[in-house]
Amino acid sequence: MLKVKKLRCEYKKNPLGIDVLSPRFSWQLESDGRGIMQTAYQVQVSKGDDTFKNLVWDTGIVNSDKSAHIEYEGEALISRQRYYYRIMVWDNKGNVSGWSEPGFFETGLLDKKEWKAEWITSSIYDDAQTSDICPLLRKDFSTAGKVRSARVYATALGLYELYINGSRVSDHLFTPGWTSYNKRLQYQTYDVTEMLKDGNNAIGAVLGNGWYKGNLVWAGNKNLYGDKAALLLQLHVTYEDGNENLILSDGSWKTSSGPILMSEIYHGETYDARLEKEGWSMAGYDDSSWESAAILQHPKEILVAQENVPVRVIQEIKPINIINTPKGEAVLDFGQNMVGWVRFEVEGPEGAEVVLRHAEVLDKDGNFYVDNLRSAKQTIRYILKGTGRECYEPHFTFQGFRYVKIESYPGDIMLENFTGRVIHSDMETTGSFTCSNELVNQLQHNIVWGQKGNFLDVPTDCPQRDERLGWTGDAQMFIRTACFNMNVASFFAKWLRDLSADQSEEKGVPHVIPHVLDDNSYSSSAWGDAATICPWTIYTCYGDKRILEEQYESMKHWVEYIRRQGDDEYLWNTGFHFGDWLGLDSKADSYVGATPVDFIATAYYAYSTDILAKTAKVLGKWEDAAEYEELYKNIIVSFRKEFVTPNGRLASPTQTAHVLALMFNLVDARDRKRVTRDLVKLIEQNGYHLTTGFVGTPYLCHVLSQNGHNDIAYKLLLQTDYPSWLYQITKGATTIWEHWDGIKEDGSFWSKDMNSFNHYAYGSIGDWLYRSVAGINTDSEMTGYKRIHITPKPGPGLEFAEAKLESMYGRVESAWAISEDSMKLKVCIPANTTAVVVLPSADLSGVLENGKRLKDAGGITSYEQTDEGVRIQLGSGDYEFTYSLV
Ligand code: BGC
Repeated sequence: MLKVKKLRCEYKKNPLGIDVLSPRFSWQLESDGRGIMQTAYQVQVSKGDDTFKNLVWDTGIVNSDKSAHIEYEGEALISRQRYYYRIMVWDNKGNVSGWSEPGFFETGLLDKKEWKAEWITSSIYDDAQTSDICPLLRKDFSTAGKVRSARVYATALGLYELYINGSRVSDHLFTPGWTSYNKRLQYQTYDVTEMLKDGNNAIGAVLGNGWYKGNLVWAGNKNLYGDKAALLLQLHVTYEDGNENLILSDGSWKTSSGPILMSEIYHGETYDARLEKEGWSMAGYDDSSWESAAILQHPKEILVAQENVPVRVIQEIKPINIINTPKGEAVLDFGQNMVGWVRFEVEGPEGAEVVLRHAEVLDKDGNFYVDNLRSAKQTIRYILKGTGRECYEPHFTFQGFRYVKIESYPGDIMLENFTGRVIHSDMETTGSFTCSNELVNQLQHNIVWGQKGNFLDVPTDCPQRDERLGWTGDAQMFIRTACFNMNVASFFAKWLRDLSADQSEEKGVPHVIPHVLDDNSYSSSAWGDAATICPWTIYTCYGDKRILEEQYESMKHWVEYIRRQGDDEYLWNTGFHFGDWLGLDSKADSYVGATPVDFIATAYYAYSTDILAKTAKVLGKWEDAAEYEELYKNIIVSFRKEFVTPNGRLASPTQTAHVLALMFNLVDARDRKRVTRDLVKLIEQNGYHLTTGFVGTPYLCHVLSQNGHNDIAYKLLLQTDYPSWLYQITKGATTIWEHWDGIKEDGSFWSKDMNSFNHYAYGSIGDWLYRSVAGINTDSEMTGYKRIHITPKPGPGLEFAEAKLESMYGRVESAWAISEDSMKLKVCIPANTTAVVVLPSADLSGVLENGKRLKDAGGITSYEQTDEGVRIQLGSGDYEFTYSLV
């Protein structure tokens, strides 16, 4: 049996409106045997239909085991065209799959000149009194024949929602997404064929402020990119006879105010249902009292097709309780700190109001607490029209909350009338981790929810206070964990393009991407290094070479920028740095941990340079590779001179300094033992607790496990008192906190100035759970899990752990369980990959696979006894190893 499944084009299933000129195809092999490898493939691409008669590309039979990222090399693609593709594969057992079910992709507007539409806006923005209102824009049009297909290409300055003939065009939210708007603006493509009617039709749009012109960044400033929201839209209608009709945004559209009186990302929405314009996006609506839309001059050269996966409502949560607080407030508890909004139903008299406020936590007395939101109001105000049952959810805002205070609501508050709608970028869930400790399972749950809440088109620091920005450091720290939990390849590809676009003239990297802070806010070490770490991580986890090609200049610019900074070419000892942000060894009243910032800066300088040298090698840029290897060596020499004593002791006695030195290989092989010993001492002295902040925490357990102290890593993981990962779980956390002591032992809070309960940085421990506890890793040469390493590291306190990962090739699984003195390890390796499995502490003589000796088990190509245990090379398939622990 051999089948081809899960066809993907640019990571997506049947994408619409792409503008990649050489899209990449990936697929998976389905087979029930062991040791299955693809030996050849054939790809055919046909234009227009799936009969494959009109081929624009046929690879013929290619002898290759490549099944990810095959680049299209056929006839030049043309605009607004659907292409079908199909795959056939051959395997090493003599099987042929036959043709796969066809997949397709459709191109968008490949030439900017095809944008015939004009930017249109509304006079609502000209008057300060009305400028918060979300305007409606509409146009009637008619079709002239039987419609074969219809596509909308649309974008906005601000945010938009589209309607045709009274219905929402799509479930995508927060379109067109957030990019560096002055340089890059995404448009979306929608298939609206089924929405059109014979004859008279209407199309309409609502515009919102969004990131473009709404309040953004702490200071209450608005209009960061512009002061008018605007729409750009083309509807291409193709008839059965091949004729085409174009409906464009232009001066013939009409505009009016609507029921949304205010909608702001931080502050919520005010909606007056009495102002609804019944039927406004249907044909024949009387818009004679509406104004003509105004034309806005704005460039179209900046338009790019949607790159990221869309934001959608992904799940719903019902409140679990209604609390009457000591202060007498009525508060809904959703049981989960979530991001999105509340949809509610209500019945009451015209003009009655529903007012909802959103908060993450209750204070220690059990009252509703909003101080940590700073200026973000997170308030929904709905004014009833009073015509029966009304159902509402907001449009251009989102809230980070677990608790909702009902400040006003006509009638009895009943739980069934409220639903939490969870929104985030619609990334495929790819990973899971579970183990024998329920608190650790809750930790994993909290990490995943931190990712959901903060991957809303850009990777943000937090989703609730007046911030919600694309902090580079946080993204860099969490990306490897993120790659396990969900497929984040497109998500980061888009964000990294904005990172390149926003690099300063001197090629520094802004603290947040898209860059919306002031001009001095860039280039902290460990933050700016997102420029190298993020592309490298995507390459590592998905085998995606193109992201390295695309980001190469940006990566190189970043390293060269650093090189010019210090007063020594090989040290980075100047400039502003966040340091080991929120480290517990910081001075009183400081957020910066005790590790010297030039130590951290030089360590990351070395790390980024190493990544750049490796990237140059992957891309065959040999001269660069040699140059940056040399630079890397010199940085290491200078680092040692500056920060390591001749006897191998680090100049900085902090946990984070020791963690970085080990993780980034900054000390001599001879000195590793000493540095490890000193790290262990520092941890012991602190009663086996961590002191690390944002910089040291992601790697702390890794370096312990890798340097002979796996037991201490487990000890740190399993601590439940402060400070530890599980402390917050014992305090009821359902997402990861920004501070180790966001809620202190006595129930009081960390300062209200900066105390988010949904910040994923410390969730970076997830990477260690997957990679070390369960032991799933990719080979560093055959990246993207083409060659898999299963090297679980069980430790004291866990009886079992299991992780699954849906890789580019299919499901990888590692599940171990220890009972009494025996160990069981289940491994699942997808077809067309190979793996190295290390059975920890195993003795070759006692190892069985499904009851058989290794020499008799299928799929295994070799095995040997090593110091760590038994090392086995194997091919695809499901395996179950058992042995007694000696
Ligand atoms: C953010 C971060 C960020 C930090 C920079 C904070 O306000 O929430 O997570 O990395 O500033 O120091």
